[in-house]
Amino acid sequence: MKNINVLINNKKYKGKSGETILELAKRNNINIPTLCNDERLEPYSSCYLCVVEIDGVKNLQTSCSTRILDGMKIFTDNERIKKSRKAALDLLLSNHYADCVAPCKTTCPAGVDIQGYISLIEKRGNCFDKRS
Ligand code: FES
Repeated sequence: MKNINVLINNKKYKGKSGETILELAKRNNINIPTLCNDERLEPYSSCYLCVVEIDGVKNLQTSCSTRILDGMKIFTDNERIKKSRKAALDLLLSNHYADCVAPCKTTCPAGVDIQGYISLIEKRGNCFDKRS
């Protein structure tokens, strides 16, 4: 397997051909947040939390699917990246209510859909906000 030299946050690292940026980062204890990169999950869609900046590449790239190349200069943490990760997380959470089963629902003796009530209250609150 061929060794590949890359810079991550201006520090030299040796990677292996075929390795992704995320794999190399994890091996070297460089934190890149992830949500969907888990072998227990079925491939469905990308969370875009693992984005990184690559020198010479216009758009941010997902580190979990981008393979390292010799001489690559990668940045894992700056304002642009933070802003993008926040936007991705906001989007993921924008319609996330009541689709995980909360402990209050699983242990409710009456079997009340507490999450559903809270979601409806939140929606109704938004409705009232728009009318005033
Ligand atoms: S971890 Fe979700 S897109 Fe990379």
